[in-house]
Amino acid sequence: MKMILIGPPGVGKGTQAKLLVKKYHIPQISTGDMLRSNIRNDTDLGQLAKTFMNAGKLVPDNVILDMIRTRFSEADCREGYILDGFPRTIPQAEGLDLLLNKIGQKLDVVLVMTANPEEIIRRLSSRRSCRECGAVYNLLFSPPHSADICDHCGGELYQRDDDKPATIKNRLNVYERQTAPLIEFYQKMNLIRKVNGMGTISEVGEGIRKALE
Ligand code: AP5
Repeated sequence: MKMILIGPPGVGKGTQAKLLVKKYHIPQISTGDMLRSNIRNDTDLGQLAKTFMNAGKLVPDNVILDMIRTRFSEADCREGYILDGFPRTIPQAEGLDLLLNKIGQKLDVVLVMTANPEEIIRRLSSRRSCRECGAVYNLLFSPPHSADICDHCGGELYQRDDDKPATIKNRLNVYERQTAPLIEFYQKMNLIRKVNGMGTISEVGEGIRKALE
């Protein structure tokens, strides 16, 4: 299964991708997680990405495409993957197309998740992530057992810098301007399936299961 998840920030792409990893035994490729790992390790790429991410802007296409080319050369991508947060612009989608042609692969499906802005702001303002293992919680909808401590590894929970209200609004605008046009791009390839992201995590998961039937 070679799948793309498209949707506004906070719609639940990462949450659902992790469930799909368990079901299909293929990797989740999250460009956001890859960039955050570079920031944690203070690499040159991380230093460059940080300024864009903290402002809610997109990291330049060439940087993202280089990162994806490297990731696709790894053995675990041969049988399939869940692309979470990539592509995010038309040039990235065209770059992905070229790469797939070169390695003789085809996408199976592009899932588009939707939710209203009020729900997105509520979810993102109450999201907490683990500094150590990257596990994601929500103080309102899926809280950790003990505040500030990860249930899985005991690591410290923190709020992402780009989950502050002003940055969330900017990310939503960036999504509408730069990422939403991808829906038409993939519609032309007949790959789009739409999923309502407004229910509980398991209701949304069920919607995805049906969309993939
Ligand atoms: P990225 O990390 O990709 O962020 P995003 O797309 O903005 O998405 P999020 O991770 O915020 O949300 P999500 O949809 O995964 O929601 P989640 O499952 O966590 O990108 C961050 C930045 O990196 C970008 O702004 C950009 O600067 C840069 N970047 C990344 N990729 C790039 C690219 N390709 N090109 C250029 N720049 C790039 O859920 C959110 C919260 O809600 C969680 O707390 C979760 O527990 C909760 N939740 C999930 N589902 C439900 C539900 N159904 N009900 C209730 N709560 C729920």
